[in-house]
Amino acid sequence: MMEHTRNLSADPHCFGDAEREAFYKTVFTRRDVRGQFLPDEIPADVLSRVLLASHYAPSVGFMQPWNFIVIRKPETKQKIHGLFRTAHEEAAEMFDAARRDTYRSLKLEGILESPVNICVTCDKDRAGPVVIGRTHAPEMDLYSSVCAVQNLWLAARSEGLGFGWVSILDHQRLKDVLGMPENVVPVAYICLGYVTGFKDRPELQSAGWRPRLPAGEVLNFESYGQQDGGSAGAELLRQMDRRQQGLEAGGYTGDFASLEFD
Ligand SMILES: Cc1cc2nc3c(=O)[nH]c(=O)nc-3n(C[C@H](O)[C@H](O)[C@H](O)COP(=O)(O)O)c2cc1C
Repeated sequence: MMEHTRNLSADPHCFGDAEREAFYKTVFTRRDVRGQFLPDEIPADVLSRVLLASHYAPSVGFMQPWNFIVIRKPETKQKIHGLFRTAHEEAAEMFDAARRDTYRSLKLEGILESPVNICVTCDKDRAGPVVIGRTHAPEMDLYSSVCAVQNLWLAARSEGLGFGWVSILDHQRLKDVLGMPENVVPVAYICLGYVTGFKDRPELQSAGWRPRLPAGEVLNFESYGQQDGGSAGAELLRQMDRRQQGLEAGGYTGDFASLEFD
């Protein structure tokens, strides 16, 4: 096989070092925020940027199936919070007794504390019945809306805004509260606002609920579950492991893009 070694700094399509680092900083310092919201209003210029970043997400057949419902009214938030409380109590009963108390002790939403809530939806009829790319995988429209959610999450982090995804809600009741028609699916209910700080690691990780999986457990070659990728695979895994060890030991340190291993 021919070897191509690319000189990144000479590649006009590659971002500069600081730009790449800003991207990785956004990715590795993004958090799901539940308990650190401040009541400060989000200025329209900031909110317009994160929402437009979300609207420019990829979508199957360029369907753009999302709507963004911006919720600020306390009475609406109270209704949604009521849905959360009910679903949260039902959810607690689903865990075995040993985990139930830990589950109940976790803070899993910031609906009332965050100044803005946003519901991202998916209109399954947005581009007619036959959509490029959705013909054999009907769930692709939902995945597209999830891409919009991730754009919003990353843009929010870059603006210093906390973002919390609340999925412990009866989605039919959520549809009713927010007046969604039959063909529209609620994809994400989001709490958004400035924060006292961002935690270094996922709260579920710190609480001992689940550990971060090592790269080696999720990297496969050529077929599902195949962990042997030959010498190229071993080298890829070695580098991923080293980078992951650095992240797990010291958090994001600002040199992710420039770190090289021999
Ligand atoms: C689809 C989805 C649904 C989620 N639902 C909730 C939720 O209902 N409540 C909550 O506190 N966190 C929720 N989260 C956040 C995850 O718990 C969080 O992403 C994970 O623990 C990793 O932490 P991090 O986002 O801070 O890296 C959700 C995340 C995703 C992607």
